Amino acid sequence: MSKKQKQQTVIVPYDENESKKEQVELMFNRIATRYDLLNDILSFGIENHWKKTLVRLIKPFKPKTILDIATGTGDLLILMSKKLAPDRIVGIDISAQMLEIAKQKVRKKLGDLAEKIELYRQDGENLQCQDEAFDLVTCAFGVRNFENLESGLKQIYRVTKTGGIAAILEFSKVKNKLFSRVYTFYFEKILPYLGGLIAKDFRAYKYLPESVKYFPEGQDFIDLVESLGFKSIRTKILTFGIATIYIFKKIQ
Ligand SMILES: C[S@@+](CC[C@H](N)C(=O)[O-])C[C@H]1O[C@@H](n2cnc3c(N)ncnc32)[C@H](O)[C@@H]1O
Repeated sequence: MSKKQKQQTVIVPYDENESKKEQVELMFNRIATRYDLLNDILSFGIENHWKKTLVRLIKPFKPKTILDIATGTGDLLILMSKKLAPDRIVGIDISAQMLEIAKQKVRKKLGDLAEKIELYRQDGENLQCQDEAFDLVTCAFGVRNFENLESGLKQIYRVTKTGGIAAILEFSKVKNKLFSRVYTFYFEKILPYLGGLIAKDFRAYKYLPESVKYFPEGQDFIDLVESLGFKSIRTKILTFGIATIYIFKKIQ
């Protein structure tokens, strides 16, 4: 399958005849209360480590205004709030249930700092934010879920200040052949089963590996983002390529 065909293949969680956006929203609303637990179990806690790495990489840019797109249950938002001490930090997500969990966690984990956090239900492909409003825009495991990847990336570009940073953490593909076999078996066979058992939604955890399979990664993803006016300044491959952090600067 060519790069173009891959990019045009739309993977949906439930029903191929319905819009991806509605299904993704429904799926995250369904699994919201078990999302954190499952993340910790299924990733053996590594996901938290990846988010910490992302924050470490963006800290030198000293962002004062931050937008976290597809913030989900708010882990990255909370981490950035603690470690980067911004003046303003906003999280948006399309799923009301994920945001509800995020609100509870922000209150519990941030104490007084919680006042600085703004959480809104919004579509990342149609942001209700002003142009060039943020020094830093982050998106962890979100862009893969966009219905139209390019329009989502264009929104990230629009709301990032010129000279500002966009940091994207997303699943990619394992490079080592031997590890790839073991991991693919786990990711495609065991993970959907465990996800189905714990979150009571087998399709949601079958959608995960399927959506990763068809999502552009590495240089293909960088080329796409750079075509919109960003410049890639750092790429960090995580845990044999299971995920990648991409850091871009808005140069024009
Ligand atoms: C895999 S979760 C990641 C959540 C969080 N960033 C994290 O790393 O744990 C994906 C999130 O993207 C959100 N999402 C999917 N499509 C979206 C869209 N078009 N606009 C905003 N959020 C979206 C989902 O509701 C979900 O909370």
